[in-house]
Amino acid sequence: MSKEKIIIANWKMKISLSESKQLAQDLIDPLKEIKGIEIAVAPNFLSVCDVADILKDTSLKICSQDAFWEQQGAYTGEISPQLLKEAGCEFIIIGHSERRKFMMENYEMIHKKTKLVLETEGVTPVVCIGENWDERKTDRRDFVLFDQLQQALGGLKFGQGDRIIVAYEPIWAIGSGTAIEPAEAEYAHKVIRLTLNDMFGKDVVDENFQIIYGGSINSSNVVGFLGLENIDGMLVGGASLNAEEFAKVIKSFNK
Ligand code: 13P
Repeated sequence: MSKEKIIIANWKMKISLSESKQLAQDLIDPLKEIKGIEIAVAPNFLSVCDVADILKDTSLKICSQDAFWEQQGAYTGEISPQLLKEAGCEFIIIGHSERRKFMMENYEMIHKKTKLVLETEGVTPVVCIGENWDERKTDRRDFVLFDQLQQALGGLKFGQGDRIIVAYEPIWAIGSGTAIEPAEAEYAHKVIRLTLNDMFGKDVVDENFQIIYGGSINSSNVVGFLGLENIDGMLVGGASLNAEEFAKVIKSFNK
């Protein structure tokens, strides 16, 4: 598995179809010389095909913001991992805290989605976990991370070449404008890695897993996260909506 660091831009539902196309276009030039880091963008569902088409001759990859837990059938309004793969996606975000909050996504749904994405060849799940402010303040973070990992991934099997990304996104840092201290993120990532080691064995984790951080990352604070042992990349929201700023984030993190 590639051990390059990875940066994923989550555009959420923040820009229109035409803005998504423009942003994809605007990214091509500033990112064309960048090597040694994997980059993906996650447009809204409607924009995936157009953005994939615009980026097809570049090294930039496409990520979906969600997927359903069945491949096909009478599921009005849903999109399967297979369809997303056909549209050009190589990554699929699962269980983002905004979906847990607004779509009432629960542990069982997240587990089923993760399992199906893993079973779909050619797409990698990006499973989001993270504590809220109350849980952090009352020192329950480690258990919350442990519990969310167990619920999302417990019982799954990983074979050679299977890849899975866990995104640690402390809910209280998302959209706040202030990322958490890099040392705190490194600690949380260590907790995640040790939990995964207990669940699947260190060899499997070293081979198949990457752990990335998300929550108010921008070009000024990303340098603090450089070189930390357990941080394999970034999931960037707001700062990825401007091509110049996103390119700066990537360049700063890829020194
Ligand atoms: P912000 O970078 O806007 O805080 O969003 C982070 C996030 O939720 C990425 O999935």
